[in-house]
Amino acid sequence: MKSIEQPQINLAKVRVREHVNPLGKKYQEPTPAPDWSSVYGDWSKPLSLDIGCAKGGYILEMAQLQPEWNFLGLEIREPLVHRAIAIQQELHLDNLYYLFCNANNSLTSLLPPAKVQQVTIQFPDPWFKRRQHKRRVVQPELVETLTKILMPGAQILLQSDIQPVSIEMIEYFDAHPRFTNLAGKGQFADYDIYPPHQPTEREQWTIDRGGKVYRGVFTYQ
Ligand SMILES: C[S@@+](CC[C@H](N)C(=O)[O-])C[C@H]1O[C@@H](n2cnc3c(N)ncnc32)[C@H](O)[C@@H]1O
Repeated sequence: MKSIEQPQINLAKVRVREHVNPLGKKYQEPTPAPDWSSVYGDWSKPLSLDIGCAKGGYILEMAQLQPEWNFLGLEIREPLVHRAIAIQQELHLDNLYYLFCNANNSLTSLLPPAKVQQVTIQFPDPWFKRRQHKRRVVQPELVETLTKILMPGAQILLQSDIQPVSIEMIEYFDAHPRFTNLAGKGQFADYDIYPPHQPTEREQWTIDRGGKVYRGVFTYQ
């Protein structure tokens, strides 16, 4: 296995709000695309999109393990993005970037059609109260919007430690005719289907406490 460099910057030191309401006024303006060919060393590499990347540790590691891919993290809590970019620059990783945006309204302003080959949505905020479910990042509209930026053959990887949240995400992708659940409609993906990966911060936290992770794997055609 390749080695992973650890940054000197302390990820834990960033002070941020615990949750941000993506339906709030402040987050309704779509984020414009940067000049991607100056952001990445080679913009033609396959792109993996991590929606709700928080501190960005998962793609920080994946970018080092899979230099043949570009990784982009989208996060609505801006201070986390500034710190993640500082780390990316410290480690001179030209296949990794982070953007402050609301993933529910910015995907098509950010990315060209048929560009993305992998999407990860991992441990999204559960917003437990029924009246707040509309704040969850995975909505039928997000699934539809993804079809505008995905390349046919792209893979969608979903994880949550909250069973109803995972069931809902799987339901929304199952309901769209262009996505195929590799475990079968309505089913969670076992480890023989879910690809090997570095655990995310929340995944590691869950595993350390003996919790269960509910996963889904879809392909887009
Ligand atoms: C519980 S954290 C999980 C972080 C990470 N994926 C992990 O597995 O450790 C969910 C993250 O999604 C972000 N988020 C929630 N809604 C979002 C949205 N609409 N657009 C972008 N990021 C969002 C939150 O700010 C938070 O950092």
